Amino acid sequence: MMTVPDMILPATDERILRIQGGNRLSGNVRISGAKNAALKAFAASLLTKEEVVLNNVPMIADVLSMADLLRAFGAEVEIDRPNERVTIHAREITTTDAPPSLFKATRASVVVTGPMLARAGEISFALPGGDQIGRRPIDMHLRGFERMGTEIERGHDIVHARVAKLKGSRIYMDYPSHTGTEALMMAATRAAGTTIIMNASYEPEIIWLGNLLNRMGARISGLGTPFITIDGVERLRGVSDIVIPDRLEAATFAVAAVMTGGEITLEDIEESHLVPITEKLVEAGAEIWKYDNKMLIKAGKELRSVDIQTLPYPGFPTDSQSTFMPLLTQATGVAHVHERVYEDRLRYTDELIKMGADIRVQRFGENGEFLATAAEVHGPTRLHGARVQSLDIRSAVSVVLAGLVAEGETQVTDVYHIDRGYQDFVQKLQLVGADIVDTAPPAE
Ligand code: EPU
Repeated sequence: MMTVPDMILPATDERILRIQGGNRLSGNVRISGAKNAALKAFAASLLTKEEVVLNNVPMIADVLSMADLLRAFGAEVEIDRPNERVTIHAREITTTDAPPSLFKATRASVVVTGPMLARAGEISFALPGGDQIGRRPIDMHLRGFERMGTEIERGHDIVHARVAKLKGSRIYMDYPSHTGTEALMMAATRAAGTTIIMNASYEPEIIWLGNLLNRMGARISGLGTPFITIDGVERLRGVSDIVIPDRLEAATFAVAAVMTGGEITLEDIEESHLVPITEKLVEAGAEIWKYDNKMLIKAGKELRSVDIQTLPYPGFPTDSQSTFMPLLTQATGVAHVHERVYEDRLRYTDELIKMGADIRVQRFGENGEFLATAAEVHGPTRLHGARVQSLDIRSAVSVVLAGLVAEGETQVTDVYHIDRGYQDFVQKLQLVGADIVDTAPPAE
């Protein structure tokens, strides 16, 4: 089975986040642009010889590594950090070999396969191993490309895909894969004829990407439904756009407000993207007011357990499952959490258990393999500080949130995971009153 991991681990990261729990958070937090939208727009810029300008790009590590991947293909990428603007100009594609280390640096890089096949008719990329949230196969992406006429050679750890000209086709996906839909939709924009993707994902980032592609001259319809139709065109043009707000970052700060008994106003959000989160927060007892692109999230009188099952949007996001878990440890009652997107996205609960959480995970693995998809959370529990590890972007945030309500000091290791997906996470928490410090070693 071909898999692409969520990240490559740097050899060492000496930084530690130190959190003293007990502060009630209050204030305003500006939500940054969505990682999982911005990175795909980077890939889309390979579809045109003209300039693509993206605003509200989160300044995170994954953006920097995606920029390097585009540069490796020959694109000019200019990052204007203060203005959160990135300008990409892929006048020419100078190579179709993706440098393995850059390709493996983010899962999102897998979406460049579509634009590269559409623009250059070829791409070679490395096949990495699994990661900490379960297998991350790309069989649906590859099968879709094959349906469009691509020859795929699967080597031991390299895939080589080649096509003279992509042809439109009907593609049925077994599961509405997020990156699968994006890669195939982008490939189809410049294919000969019409492509229909059935059982397509319609997560907000995909709708935004589809609209961006249409503004570049693509002819895509059915966005926001499981049936996306793409009429191929000869060329796409440059565009300037604004990345949608990060619903997963917004969910993180909303949970932080409620579980610390505080109140936070989220700024620059898209309310409709947050419905699965806000519905669950209200069910748990939180109070929420919305106005314009802001939302005030306030802890209620009591915090009640709620059941969660993760599903593709508009289901409850898998990425917010680990974010919600620490809140559930503080709620009264027994919460049932069912992870239905990734087969192994409850591994991090061991770290919360170290802090005193009463989380009973059902493990279904064979031969000592850890596979867990369901957990029961008994609350409320008194959490205590401990030294805990981040396993991936979202689990890193989970242990930080737990630290905000734990007695004593929590030390979080492997902080680089947070840098991959959250802009200024520590600073934003400090601004709303968290006692958290990043003990970064001095820059060389
Ligand atoms: N799957 C297959 N075969 C495939 C593709 C996926 O079996 O060819 C399975 C996966 O194993 C998984 C499920 O389908 O069980 C969902 O995978 P999907 O392809 O939808 O996820 P993804 O595209 O790899 C994106 C986000 C994830 C987010 C999911 C779900 C990016 C770069 N990543 O992943 O975000 O959890 O969609 O919304 O867009 C994160 O940001 O931390 C993150 C993990």
